[in-house]
Amino acid sequence: MPAQKIIIDTDPGQDDAVAILLALASPDEIEVLGITAVAGNVPLALTQRNARMVCELAGRRDIRVFAGCDRPLGRDLVTAEHVHGKSGLDGPVLPEPDMPLQDQHGVDFIIDTLRAEPEGSVTLCPLGPLTNIAMAIEKAPDIIPRIRKLVLMGGAYFQVGNITPAAEFNIYVDPQAARIVFRAGVPLVVMPLDVTHKALVTAERNNRFRAIGSHVGIAVAQMTEFFERFDKEKYGSEGAPLHDPCVTAYLVRPDLFKGRHVNVEIETQSELTMGMTVADWWGVSGRAPNAMFMGDIDADGFFALLTDRLARL
Ligand code: RIB
Ligand code: CA
Repeated sequence: MPAQKIIIDTDPGQDDAVAILLALASPDEIEVLGITAVAGNVPLALTQRNARMVCELAGRRDIRVFAGCDRPLGRDLVTAEHVHGKSGLDGPVLPEPDMPLQDQHGVDFIIDTLRAEPEGSVTLCPLGPLTNIAMAIEKAPDIIPRIRKLVLMGGAYFQVGNITPAAEFNIYVDPQAARIVFRAGVPLVVMPLDVTHKALVTAERNNRFRAIGSHVGIAVAQMTEFFERFDKEKYGSEGAPLHDPCVTAYLVRPDLFKGRHVNVEIETQSELTMGMTVADWWGVSGRAPNAMFMGDIDADGFFALLTDRLARL
């Protein structure tokens, strides 16, 4: 089977970084057409910088990185330095990037790529707020049938919120964008906290990253050691949840995941539940299913894949 053509839309973010590394380490399965940065974990100036740093860490200065939207569609930007550190990529000490940032706006890159590539051949992989994806859909609705599928990290149902009692961060930052994306009619595969909270970097798993011995393995171990604090303190969990790598792992090994095809709507009216992903898990709403909402993962299989692929960089 030919490699899947993807665009990664991202707000690095240590877990975004690991997701990008996994994609770049899997050229037989994944062809990264480009990376578009979005404001999220940290402001856009840092997410586009961090995305380039990760490409250089992987030895892939050839990857085109674009800056997208610097704020949500209709709300002030909320960032997550309390989780990811001031730089967004705290943990390892990495050199400032010197590979170029592309001049084209990330949203226009998404539109132009979908128009240029064969219809139904490009998968979009958003790892942060959905601002760039929604802007592309609004600006160029003709791209909707050209998208093969959207595999995104965001939302929560049984795990409820991680930034408010009701909402997961990516959806909460730009709920209007999420509503546009979830209603666009594009095939959706969603990796919510319900599944990502089962992908925890325990000490043993992190030791395996470090034991790879390469600058990539050591940097990943340092990233997860930094950003695990938030979840350990809040949830008492055994380690950092690798949210975003669930997206790129799905492209390589979809059999690692289990979910249910349900209707998912986004709360955009109430400040109390703003950004909540209302998943009709029991099919009571009569609304048509629009998303494969993942709930289970073979965590040992996921970490075995991740460790094996990171060792290839
Ligand atoms: O809620 C987790 C998500 O928010 C992840 O994508 C993380 O990188 C942050 O963007
Ligand atoms: Ca992210």
